[in-house]
Amino acid sequence: MCGIVGYIGNRESQPILLEGLKKLEYRGYDSAGIAVFTEQGLEITKTVGRLANLEGRLSGDPLRGTVGIGHTRWATHGKPSDVNSHPHTDNTLKFSVVHNGIIENYLELKEELMHKGHRFLSETDTEVISHLIAVEYEGDIVKAVQRAVSKMRGAFALGVLTEYEPDKLVAVRYASPLIIGVGEGEKYIASDIPAILEHTRDIYILNDGEMAVLTRDSVQLMTIEGNLISKEMFHVDWDLMTAEKGGFDHFMLKEIHEQPKAYRDTMRGRMSEDGRSVVLPELKMTPDMLRGFKRVHIVACGTAMHAGLVGKTVIEQLARVPVETDVASEYRYRSPIITPDTLVIVVSQSGETADTLAALREAQRCGARVLAITNVVGSSVAREADDVIITLAGPEIAVASTKAYTSQLIAFYLFGLYWAQANGTKNEAEIAHILAAMESLPEQVEKILAQAEVLKGVAESISRHSSLFFIGRGIDYAVALEGSLKLKEISYIHSEAYAAGELKHGTLALIEEGVPVIALMTQEELYEKMLSNIKETKARGAHVLGIINEGSEGETAKSVDRQFAIPRTLPILTPALSVVPLQLLSYYASLALGHDVDKPRNLAKSVTVE
Ligand code: AGP
Repeated sequence: MCGIVGYIGNRESQPILLEGLKKLEYRGYDSAGIAVFTEQGLEITKTVGRLANLEGRLSGDPLRGTVGIGHTRWATHGKPSDVNSHPHTDNTLKFSVVHNGIIENYLELKEELMHKGHRFLSETDTEVISHLIAVEYEGDIVKAVQRAVSKMRGAFALGVLTEYEPDKLVAVRYASPLIIGVGEGEKYIASDIPAILEHTRDIYILNDGEMAVLTRDSVQLMTIEGNLISKEMFHVDWDLMTAEKGGFDHFMLKEIHEQPKAYRDTMRGRMSEDGRSVVLPELKMTPDMLRGFKRVHIVACGTAMHAGLVGKTVIEQLARVPVETDVASEYRYRSPIITPDTLVIVVSQSGETADTLAALREAQRCGARVLAITNVVGSSVAREADDVIITLAGPEIAVASTKAYTSQLIAFYLFGLYWAQANGTKNEAEIAHILAAMESLPEQVEKILAQAEVLKGVAESISRHSSLFFIGRGIDYAVALEGSLKLKEISYIHSEAYAAGELKHGTLALIEEGVPVIALMTQEELYEKMLSNIKETKARGAHVLGIINEGSEGETAKSVDRQFAIPRTLPILTPALSVVPLQLLSYYASLALGHDVDKPRNLAKSVTVE
């Protein structure tokens, strides 16, 4: 995820901006840049790669001045490159902008501006913002920003400078975080607290739809419509480590809590304005080509593979195309039957997993078209695949994948619906119904997160056991696999995930007095069958936690020892909710056992060896 820092004061801004950006390095980025008012005017230096590259460029030719903005970019629109890096400017070079977020209608706006003669240098949505502000400027930067923002749809945190008003720094927040730091004779903006913590602990946290106008001696807060507001200053008493984790104890917990945002970001701009269809402009394959695929192979590793298992059900149910799933390390050694009408989908958070990359290359060698679902623009997988759907989970730092997995689910829902549109296997009303349910998911996840304390207690009791089982049927089984992997990797407790109906064919022998069983029971048409399977385990002494749908508590209470209800959604969408309590259970179990939650033993975040 991108990082923003801005400074207006009496000290040299370049070192403050660079230090601030360094404090945001832990979030991951692919390029960086700064803009400073110098004696020559508004000057920009930016470059792809590490901050050290930027420092290298600036060391010979520093930007001297006391007002500036800086940015680290995590590519979303356009590959990582010098020209795509921020800050961006307009054709007059009088305005400069740093931006976090996504402008959904940037192509529309860009076309309009091009008709008026504007020339664009980058592939980014952000460059459009600087042009738009320049067009709207009539002597008042605040009004120009407000007018420009009123034309933009999407998510944006902005830092804006103009050479015409060199004693002002304008900040805007809409669905992307931004804070204002207050010091004596100097003010700051930042996307995250760590960037400015060294200089001030007094901050204003902007809410969506708010903006701030900073001078050296004042902060004026207002809505983006221009109505003045006042708000309480927040005094930060966190240390740097806590600030990096947004006040959470671990990155994993922070990332679990970031899921509602990751869902919204991954869906943003991919539903038509009337909510009745999916739009995936990033796909190079046409609906006609899509109709030509008669089967699908989904290939991935670990958690990404578990997302693929949900993807299988999603594509089969929505688009009615048969899907095979494979772990990437097996795929290319089993001579997969790849015909010209096979679409291969690879899924990878990092886009650098060696097994997945090798499978992608093998599929292409055999003539398949490859679609990648990945979280990293510019990664090897993203570069080599024929089509890419980027998940917008933002950088995931904890080794245990959480928000990347759930964003992959969202990508599968969108793609499955898109394919259903092309195949005509779902009508417009059915698609609109599913999209409406998807839009409720972020809020529903928030409801689950609000009950984290309940799960903490359950996790503490689980942590006293040496082995447990996750069971489910249908799509719940795919989630059971993910729940089990999560628990194993960070708590080191042995667990197995089983298709509930399969237990009686052998594994039931392992169930004895007190063994914890976590039963996923969200699929109504399989509910009765699940109850029978749960009875089989209870008869052998299992202690069962049911993950159920809200409203079925009364009925289920007779069959399980404990239950945790998730908000109701459509059966196909339940994985996006039911996995959240399992993530929290693993987190709290690991915590109770005193393990290193974010860096579990023997594991790496990105596995670049076969
Ligand atoms: C998940 O918690 C694991 N860290 C692991 O299974 C991971 O999902 C797998 O290594 C694949 O990584 P990728 O998504 O970056 O390709």
